[in-house]
Amino acid sequence: MPEPFRIGLLGHGTVGGAFHELIAARADAVAATSGRRPEITGVLRRSEGDFDQILAESDVVVELIGGTNPARDYVLRALEAGKHVVTANKQLVAQHGEELFAAARESGVQLRFEAAVAGVVPVIRVIQESLAATEMTKVFGIVNGTTNFILTEMARTGASFDEVLAQAQELGYAEADPTADVGGADAAAKMAILARLAFHTPVHLDDVSYEGITEIQPDDLAYAKELGLSLKLLGVAELRDGGFSVRVFPCFLYRGHPLAPVEGPFNAVMVQAPAINEITISGPGAGGMATATAVLGDVVSILSGDAPVHDTQRELAMVRDVSSSFYLHLEVADRPGVLAAVADVLGQAGISVRSVVQRGSGEQARLVMVMHDTPEAAFYGALDELGKLDFMRATPRAIRVIEAEFPDPVD
Ligand SMILES: NC(=O)c1ccc[n+]([C@@H]2O[C@H](COP(=O)([O-])OP(=O)(O)OC[C@H]3O[C@@H](n4cnc5c(N)ncnc54)[C@H](OP(=O)(O)O)[C@@H]3O)[C@@H](O)[C@H]2O)c1
Repeated sequence: MPEPFRIGLLGHGTVGGAFHELIAARADAVAATSGRRPEITGVLRRSEGDFDQILAESDVVVELIGGTNPARDYVLRALEAGKHVVTANKQLVAQHGEELFAAARESGVQLRFEAAVAGVVPVIRVIQESLAATEMTKVFGIVNGTTNFILTEMARTGASFDEVLAQAQELGYAEADPTADVGGADAAAKMAILARLAFHTPVHLDDVSYEGITEIQPDDLAYAKELGLSLKLLGVAELRDGGFSVRVFPCFLYRGHPLAPVEGPFNAVMVQAPAINEITISGPGAGGMATATAVLGDVVSILSGDAPVHDTQRELAMVRDVSSSFYLHLEVADRPGVLAAVADVLGQAGISVRSVVQRGSGEQARLVMVMHDTPEAAFYGALDELGKLDFMRATPRAIRVIEAEFPDPVD
């Protein structure tokens, strides 16, 4: 009878509790395929357990506490003691990844973290293992289920951000303090991890620029519908101009885009590489059992023995001024010459217009436009100039648009 594979479990909350249940349900199946039966030999929570004892009695430490402190200390000590580690902690990997990868390398053990990005969607595995042989040029997608749920419901019902956020909290899709989700910081940490793995370069979380969805207005979504657009909070990591860029921002997508139909609390990630064109993977990005399933998948991978390599191969510079296409929402006075004056400001900045919708009259007059790709610095300069025009009734609002053409899905 082979020795059981001993698991020290740190954290027994939403994911830790689900992981415990999953082990009880799936241990025999894992034993049948891997040869060793996983068994939880110790649990640490605030009120229970002794870390040193758990460490001494485990082959793998599963960290499901969250945050960086004390999780970093526990994970480092486990790696230094020669134990494999599995974690679902995006903040830990995004902020302390290099230190932890080095400790794992030094001790010859595995550090796996599939559940830290996009829950059970196996994006880490795809980037590090399935696509290890190709040069990836872009990784982007919807990596925060809370914001995707909110944007989906705002578009569907016409309700405001605050109303839908309250509903999301009631349904358990948003936390009591939703700041990290709705402000974009959660997605930024996940994109930093994906960029690090796809481009084999160190990524400093402070260099990742991010915007959230708190300023999105219901009428942006209503007008966008008329233009055939749907709104997502996108994380985008890409190689550009000899360097790379990692950003998170709300963004409109045209109807045929593979990410446009991803609705509710779902996540989806696309990876592009010249050799493969692109792939898209999607599924539940959170939830106790879904996340625990990804954690157990990592434990099974450790049992199988294949170790992903976390080495960096180069140090690329972060590129900041990138080009984007924009949606522009202008509340204007209802009088002749307005459109020509707006077109003049845009023309002088070298910005060309893809489509325009004029709506309302009097106090309700609005111009809603979509631009073609333009350097962001030039666009924001033009936005400042537009804000100074005397017929502008409110500060102009701009949201990025992914212009890439995808065929409309077959109805
Ligand atoms: N929830 C999800 O859907 C989801 C999805 C993807 C990734 N994740 C990640 O999974 C991890 C766990 O999330 P969760 O939602 O399961 O969190 P949670 O429900 O808040 O559970 C946290 C657990 O950690 C324990 N803990 C907290 N501080 C501790 C300390 N100082 N010492 C020892 N134990 C401590 C808590 O102990 P007590 O039981 O004593 O309070 C609790 O058991 C996080 O990194 C999170 O980002 C979660």
